Amino acid sequence: MKYNFDEIIDRKKSDCIKWDATQTFFGTEDVLPMWVADMDFRTPRFIIKSIENQLKRAVLGYTFAGEEWYSAIIQWLKHKHDWEISKDSLTFVPGIVRGQAHVLQCFTEINDKVLIMSPVYHPFFHVTTQLHREVVSSSLCIENNEISIDFNQFEKDIKGCKMLILCNPHNPGGRVWTENELKEIAHICYKNNVLVISDEIHADLTLPNYKHHPFASVSKEASEIAITLMAPSKTFNMPGISSSYAIIKNEKLNEQFQTFMQAGEFNNGNMFAYASTAAAYQQGEDWLKQLLQYIQKNIDFTEDFLENEIPSISMIRPQASFLIFLNCKNLNLAQKDLEQLFLNKAHLALNSGTMFGTEGEGFMRLNVGCPHATLQKALEQLKSALR
Ligand SMILES: Cc1ncc(COP(=O)(O)O)c(C=O)c1O
Repeated sequence: MKYNFDEIIDRKKSDCIKWDATQTFFGTEDVLPMWVADMDFRTPRFIIKSIENQLKRAVLGYTFAGEEWYSAIIQWLKHKHDWEISKDSLTFVPGIVRGQAHVLQCFTEINDKVLIMSPVYHPFFHVTTQLHREVVSSSLCIENNEISIDFNQFEKDIKGCKMLILCNPHNPGGRVWTENELKEIAHICYKNNVLVISDEIHADLTLPNYKHHPFASVSKEASEIAITLMAPSKTFNMPGISSSYAIIKNEKLNEQFQTFMQAGEFNNGNMFAYASTAAAYQQGEDWLKQLLQYIQKNIDFTEDFLENEIPSISMIRPQASFLIFLNCKNLNLAQKDLEQLFLNKAHLALNSGTMFGTEGEGFMRLNVGCPHATLQKALEQLKSALR
């Protein structure tokens, strides 16, 4: 491997949430953090260099999204996901959740209903409720450690909703939705006049043997109703830069959104965001390929370790990204006791499954975006705790 993903980096005392905020969120510093979804790998050199190049300027003045930013994104999406988009359809947004907040404010009213397919990345709930929209929760099916959609239920739940926030691929389950599933979602939403925010932050982390389908690309209906949110942040381990973008193919919706964003200048990125995003997409192919191999190995290792050493815990095998939903139901513990077991006995900080919705009961989310040695240590601690 050209890149060293085994390197242990001391992230402590850098005000990073994962390592420095366990006291705040878990009440202790005596834990190995395997929670917040960033990776413990070095942010690739070409990203750092693109930021250093900006710092060499004599004046850190106002900047705009230059040609490189547009063309890097357009080419990446064509090359990676066979998705053609135009420059006009692209808008900078300063983060995916912030993007969701902007979209919700732009296209829905207070008290409007917003569908969320639970369990799902918890800020989907918060952003909706904090903006005084009503969350309608539609349960995903989790059976035999596989996640699927009950479309009859989904169709019932969507009635009266104005918007769906879709997690594509899914977090915390790591599910890569198939083209047919996405077409069905689009069809039902289109029929019911529901707009869809497709959060595709994990798209580029789709693992070998799976294919990501941008929601907006699967059908004409999908492209009419989709507001796609994407970013290089998860993929290239640069979420601290707050650099994301929206793609809207429907011209009317796009104009409405761009007007909204321009009004508050929310679409003005900073010079580091533009430069690092362009660098990621122009130079990141090789790094990403190796990263995905490394993550896949960590996932395989976790699966083997559980099977051989901790058979009372199993997992939903992710098809994308570095998060594993551990199925701890066989331990027969109440969620609070399960959380205590991980925290006080295993000395591990993981996200509790119920954080993602009640359907996450009996699960804990493990982040394996870390050096192999860290993962091994975490699993050994869990094994000892269960002994
Ligand atoms: C599905 C999903 N959306 C959004 C985010 C956060 O993105 P941002 O920090 O750009 O708001 C995450 C982070 O884990 C995520 O998993």
